[in-house]
Amino acid sequence: MEKQSWAEPYKIKMVEPVFETTREQRQKAIKESGYNTFLLKSEDVYIDLLTDSGTSAMSDRQWAGMMLGDEAYAGSRNFFNLEDAIREFYGYRFVVPTHQGRGAEHILSQLLIDDGDIVPGNMYFTTTRLHQELAGGKFADIIVDEAHDPKITFPFKGNVDLTKLEKLIAEHGAEKIPYVCIATTVNMAGGQPISMKNLKELRELTNKHGIKIIHDMTRVAENAFMIQQLEAGYSDRSVKEIVKEICSYTDGATMSAKKDAMVNIGGFLAVNDEQLFDDARNLVVIYEGLHTYGGLAGRDMEAMAIGIAESVQDKHIAARVGQVQYLGRKLLDAGIPIVLPIGTHGVFIDAKQFLPHIPQEEFPAQQLAAEIYLEAGVRSMERGVVSAGRDQVTGKNHMPELELVRLTIPRRVYTQAHMDVIAEAVIRVYKRREEVQGLKMTYEPKYLRFFQARFQPIAPEPNDTTHENDETFASCTVGGADSGVGQL
Ligand code: F0G
Repeated sequence: MEKQSWAEPYKIKMVEPVFETTREQRQKAIKESGYNTFLLKSEDVYIDLLTDSGTSAMSDRQWAGMMLGDEAYAGSRNFFNLEDAIREFYGYRFVVPTHQGRGAEHILSQLLIDDGDIVPGNMYFTTTRLHQELAGGKFADIIVDEAHDPKITFPFKGNVDLTKLEKLIAEHGAEKIPYVCIATTVNMAGGQPISMKNLKELRELTNKHGIKIIHDMTRVAENAFMIQQLEAGYSDRSVKEIVKEICSYTDGATMSAKKDAMVNIGGFLAVNDEQLFDDARNLVVIYEGLHTYGGLAGRDMEAMAIGIAESVQDKHIAARVGQVQYLGRKLLDAGIPIVLPIGTHGVFIDAKQFLPHIPQEEFPAQQLAAEIYLEAGVRSMERGVVSAGRDQVTGKNHMPELELVRLTIPRRVYTQAHMDVIAEAVIRVYKRREEVQGLKMTYEPKYLRFFQARFQPIAPEPNDTTHENDETFASCTVGGADSGVGQL
């Protein structure tokens, strides 16, 4: 059959220049950033794959919507447009806007979790778990085992292992489990979807025990696309229909609209239970703002409402995931170890296989992210032992099976040519991988340490002329080494 290529369903109306730096400039920048890509200045980055969060390009429709912002303190028309969009596309009854996803996680956790509760989930997410823990709960991982092995090609690695959940219920009792937290497209597993079949089975099981399902719907459209592509019975259903069906099996949702919905800021909590809604809109005024703006400007809510509608269009999502798959296949063809199957929002490099000579205690993924930056100014993110943090009770490091570097693709921002440049940079680092050495942590913040932690090479790099300032690191303390309770 003749080859038929796909192309993006848009043309570009406005561009922003990006700038390349020299290797010396990057060497200085990464050292000054304590080998943490979160601490780099964006100006020092050529292609920014740190995250797909808040980094997407808005459409002309969204920008036009920004001009229709009704900046009233209370009852802004844009709130009602947002509420309509959430009801139409997701089917949830009640909406509380928040400044971003973690704002919604905070409110929900405070309302539903009591001291000593267990909150099962299909793998943890950093902010979600922290809010559960700060509310007195304990996260329990109930994702299928396949999700922890980057080499297994099982298509629905986001699935819940129902036996693990049944065990938890038997052990603790359903009354200790306020809800099961289900992410569609599991970020920390490498952008892996959950199947509709599994979700339906989970609904049956939780119904039997009167346990709620709360949906982390940050990337639900991407998950719906994978169901359309891979799950029996869904190939002729639209992404829009599949998204709504997913939501119908859940009781409420937290959303970071900075991803799927392609806004630079925004999120919400959506629920079906009226009492829970009443409680949430009361609590939101303490932390975010009045319940009709939740920390957002009217214009942000308008852009979000429009972005939600755009996010479920089949052609959009096919191009979005198609670009990620294009990069993934390029890396696979070059023999680079990545998480399989290729994810939907990014390509996740397996740092344990890429740098087998660096033990996990020396932060191989952290170092690999720094090396990729050094090579070509491409900024990525560690998703391994640094992101996993410490056990809240013992203070010991979590040692996740997955030690990954995430090349996260913003939506509608970069071209296929950028993907080629990124792949070539990673391949060059792979060729010299034996030279790469481990890191030690020199500063560890108490919460979500990956954002601000600092590191230093265990041994100075051979060509590095920028080591004069090492005492800056030496004077920093490692906060968590013997931290005990409360360290994360
Ligand atoms: N849930 C998931 C699955 C996420 O990926 C994120 C954010 C959040 C919740 C929190 O949302 O950032 O709006 O407060 N993920 C970003 C990322 C930060 O880079 O993966 P937020």
